[in-house]
Amino acid sequence: MSDTLKQHTKRDASNPIIDLSNQVGAEIKAGLQKENANLSPKFLYDTLGSVLFEAICELPEYYPTRTEAEIFLRYLPEMARRIGTGATLIDLGAGNCAKAAKLFPLLHPEQYVPIDISAEHMRDYVKRLQERFPHIEMTPLELDFSVQWQLPEEVRASKRVFFYPGSSIGNFDPDQALVFLRQMRAACGEDGGILIGVDLIKELGLLNAAYDDALGVTAAFNLNMLRHVNRIIGADFDVRAWSHKAFFNPTLSRIEMHLEARTDVIVRWPGGMRHFKQGEGIHTENSYKYSVEKMTQFLKTAGFGNARAWSDEKNWFAVIYAEAV
Ligand SMILES: C[S@@+](CC[C@H](N)C(=O)[O-])C[C@H]1O[C@@H](n2cnc3c(N)ncnc32)[C@H](O)[C@@H]1O
Repeated sequence: MSDTLKQHTKRDASNPIIDLSNQVGAEIKAGLQKENANLSPKFLYDTLGSVLFEAICELPEYYPTRTEAEIFLRYLPEMARRIGTGATLIDLGAGNCAKAAKLFPLLHPEQYVPIDISAEHMRDYVKRLQERFPHIEMTPLELDFSVQWQLPEEVRASKRVFFYPGSSIGNFDPDQALVFLRQMRAACGEDGGILIGVDLIKELGLLNAAYDDALGVTAAFNLNMLRHVNRIIGADFDVRAWSHKAFFNPTLSRIEMHLEARTDVIVRWPGGMRHFKQGEGIHTENSYKYSVEKMTQFLKTAGFGNARAWSDEKNWFAVIYAEAV
């Protein structure tokens, strides 16, 4: 593993000096100025946000992580037979890399490529993982995959298998999800595939509780985005003036997370400001829920076929492996 975590997000080719924070800052400011303000869920993940997400995964209300883990525990040998050994395993939004690490003993990848925007958080986990699995080449990358991305040459071209667990695909609107799947298909060559976790449509109460837990950990995770944004653009969001809102929108089949102003608030940043009326919100995350059929169709449209899906007994979650076709 190289000591330096490489930054692979595409920058402005005409001016390589334009640094990413300028583009990111412009994106945040544009989102805050919209009539219905919004911020990308990628801003949930600074180092504290990544730790808070790990805490969410431990909550009794947050069924996706443990349900997906059950599926892997039960069906991993079957998945491994389909996928085969010696892959280049590309873990999108790897976080603490814990899910991929559980695949290693059966998948025996040649190379592991964890990718995350919250790179500081990922770095230490990759170091420890490399000690446990010294024979696997590990190539961690700092990359924002919500914008156009490409894999660097260090990523082996053979048998690229994208690993995208946790139903993170649900953070994209369906049309963006398709674009993203197509990008993976283009990057994975003819002998690759995708192993993807998908949260399924289920009872409203379960969905709502998973994103609005009794301890308020998800609320802290959502509110922490304001501190992250303060640091990036020099804004003066006061976290205490905002509250967390999460609900299932059945028309669009998605959980929506918002931050709602508790009172009239003026937020300032160098060169700009925004007045939020009491009750006005900032839309911070969507989490679309799918059926296996719909996701399989999406995968097919993107160029992945021969899909096999595994689910838990309650049909709350599914893991799908599909091959590049
Ligand atoms: C919901 S967590 C999932 C973590 C882990 N894969 C799991 O399934 O538990 C999403 C992960 O993706 C990363 N992430 C979110 N948006 C990203 C982006 N645009 N580019 C790269 N990584 C991103 C976050 O930092 C975080 O580690």
